Order: sequence, then C-alpha cells, then structure tokens
Amino acid sequence: MTTQNGRPEDDLAAAFNPLAPDQIENPFAMYTRLRRERPIFHSPMFDLWVVTRYADIAEVERDTARFSSVGALEARAEPHPEVRKVLAQGYSRFLSLVQSDPPDHTRIRNVFGRALSPQRIAAMEPAIRATTNGLIDGFVNDGQVDLIQQFAYALPGFIICDLLGVSRADMQQLKGWSDDKTVLMSATAPIEQQVECAHGFIAMERYFKEKLLERSRKPREDLLTLLVPQSMGGTAPMSEQEAVCNAMDLMSAGHETTTSFIGSGMWLLLSAPEQLKAVREDLSLLPNALDEMLRKEPPIRGFFRQVTTDTTLGGVSLPKGARLFILYESGNHDETQFSDPDRFDIRRTDAKKHLAFGKGIHFCVGAPLAKLEGRIAFEQLLQRLPNLRLRTDEPAVRRPYLMLRGFEHLPIAWDVPA
Ligand code: HEM
Repeated sequence: MTTQNGRPEDDLAAAFNPLAPDQIENPFAMYTRLRRERPIFHSPMFDLWVVTRYADIAEVERDTARFSSVGALEARAEPHPEVRKVLAQGYSRFLSLVQSDPPDHTRIRNVFGRALSPQRIAAMEPAIRATTNGLIDGFVNDGQVDLIQQFAYALPGFIICDLLGVSRADMQQLKGWSDDKTVLMSATAPIEQQVECAHGFIAMERYFKEKLLERSRKPREDLLTLLVPQSMGGTAPMSEQEAVCNAMDLMSAGHETTTSFIGSGMWLLLSAPEQLKAVREDLSLLPNALDEMLRKEPPIRGFFRQVTTDTTLGGVSLPKGARLFILYESGNHDETQFSDPDRFDIRRTDAKKHLAFGKGIHFCVGAPLAKLEGRIAFEQLLQRLPNLRLRTDEPAVRRPYLMLRGFEHLPIAWDVPA
C-alpha cells in the first residue's frame, strides 16, 4: 500500500501520460490502478494534481469556494511568454462561463439559461432532423463513410452555427479556430505551434467582436443578440470581453464535444452487435444508451481547477494555488459507483449519474441540446443504414488531446440495396 500524500512522485504517477498512444487508446487499466493505489497524485509531467475517484471529483465540483474554476480550461496557469505576446493583441484572459466562479458565474449563467431554454432547444428538433437527413442523403448510397469527417463533425457544427446565428459557411473556419483554442489551452504542443494557434485564437476573438457589433446595430432572433453587452447597447449584463469569450466558448463547447459523443457512441454500439440489434429494434432503449455512451467514453476527459486555500482532499494535502485535473474519464469507471464499470451496457440502470456533463453549478448548460442531437443522429443512422458495421480494412483513429477524448476518423460500412 502506498502512502497517499501525493509526493514523492512514484512510478505510477510518473507513468501517467494521457498523450501516450496506449493511454489514448485505453487509459482505463491505468485508472483502475490509480484509483486503488494513488487516487490523488501530483503528475510531474504536467505539473497537475490528478483526481481520479468519483467521490473526490464530485467534492471538487461541489465546493466552488475551495476549488476555483478560474482557468478550468487551461492546463497551465500562465501561457509561455511567446504565446502571451500574441495573446496581448486581444483580451488578456479568457473570461467565459465555465471559467468563472460565483457571483460572476451566477450572473452569466442566467443569460445562458434564457439563451438555451428548453423551449428554444425543443424548437430546434425539425432543423436538427432535416440537417441529419441531409447529411445522410449525401452518402447513403455509397455503402461506406468516415462517420466523423462526413457526419459527426458537420451536424453539431451546423447546429451551433444556427443557434449562435452565424453562417454555416463559416463553420470550417470556426472549427479551425476552436481547434487552435484547444491546442493553446492544453499547452502540450511545441511552442511554435502554440504561437500559431494563438494567432487563430485572436482571429476568433475579432470575428465574434465584429458579429456582436453587427447584432448591436441590427438585433436578430439568435443567441449572439442575447449576448450583446449593455455597453454595446444590448441586454446582457456582461462586459464586452465576457460576451466575446462566451461566444467563442459556445462555438467550441457546442461542437467538438458532440462530434465525439456521436463518434465514440457509434464505435461502442458497433463493437457490441447484440446491443446494436436491441437498440435498432427498440428505439426506446436509445435515451439510456446515450447516457451509457457518455459514461463509458466521455468526450471530455477532464477539466482543471485551482485550489484557493491550503486544504485536503481525499486525505491528500493540497497547497493553495495547486492546479487540479479532475478526470471524469476515470470517475465514470469508478467501481465504487458502477458495477463492472469497464463493460458497456445500454441497460445499466444508473448510467445517468455519469460525470460526462460535470456536476453542480457548472453542469453542462448544453446537455439537453447535445442529447437531442445524439438521439436524432442515432435514430436516423440506425434506421437508414442497414447492417451497419465498423470497417475492418480501415482503422479508426483517435485524437491525441489531453482534455478531449474521441475519434478523428471512424470508417463504417452498411449494405446498399441492389
Ligand atoms: C456531449 C456533448 C457535451 C459534453 C460531453 C459537455 C461537457 C461539459 C462539461 C463536463 C461541463 C462542465 C465543466 C466544469 O464542470 O467545469 C460543461 C459545461 C458547459 N457546456 Fe457542455 N458539453 C457538451 C455539449 C455542450 C453543448 C452542445 C453546449 C452549447 C450549446 C455546451 C456548452 C457548455 C457551457 C456553456 C458550459 C459551462 C457551464 C457552466 O460553467 O455553468 N456543452 N460541458
């Protein structure tokens, strides 16, 4: 039994590397050992305190006074000086909802509550269904497709563009900038690449500032109009910087997560033919299956927190200023919460308590939209593509990110009637 003071860094802590190919492919065996032997430890490679147990993650999420969300998306407290130089051309800090604590969080979340109300989301169903079917029409007769590149990437991208009120023609560009933002905030890429991404980040800031100015002159029925700050003549009780950062964050939060949700979910289902058959024959199994997909393969591996005062968590002492990496990916496989946790089981009765959408005040405000998109995507794909299967001649390829989990390519095939 190892002591649990988090230091000195033992071999297990040093071996933790979510960017290593084997841990990208399957990190779960390592997490099982970590939860048992070193549930909270300091990773020397990332200079982060990694939190692996469900109960400890939930405690961090609940206690926003001890564990601040400032920098929740950023692996490092400060960017490299070269990166900072570029970022200084725009706003110095990224002030979005997910990176805020009360009372700022409460003020901004109220705006989001209106912008993503259940009525607004429900009203999007016909557009989501039409977009889904339009995309499937494009490949239904081909008998095979890369599900990520030709479907799972486009569907949430188009829908979040519609919701924000920007042109679908801008989706590719916006996705490129969102990827820049992810690379920048993970802070694991070579510095030259981070600098390049910082330029993309600044371009995205300018894009949304321009859009907000347009909306302040000519309001529309869209989410960007709801984000126009009072200083620009709008209604949102936030600064211009907060409005721009939140628009940027919505674009990436609403896009890449849902892409991975659909991709990983389909991979899980196609890897379990009996469960695939059951869902296909009874679509009422789908809602629970979606939660089980999110539990088994959460699109966000984990987020960050900052310790505000010297404290202890799970018996481990943490100094003020320590940066935490709360690993939903591990919490979702915690054997004290889920029986036989590494098994994918669409009938699991407690799948819903997964951590894929977080917990507490930061619980994903876009969860109803993500689930609606997921439900419609699976319904239409399963109904329209008979004998759906993974391609054995083309490998599925995962994305190598610290914070995100999902596929870059997922080749699938089906039978095309003669
Ligand atoms: C399957 C898809 C999605 C997953 C897995 C996901 C995951 C998450 C997680 C884990 C959090 C909590 C962060 C924390 O505790 O620090 C979160 C928050 C958030 N998500 Fe999502 N999300 C998804 C889809 C969406 C969509 C579609 C949108 C926008 C329409 C969205 C917008 C947000 C926002 C704005 C927050 C911040 C909420 C707050 O801090 O109060 N997400 N999401």
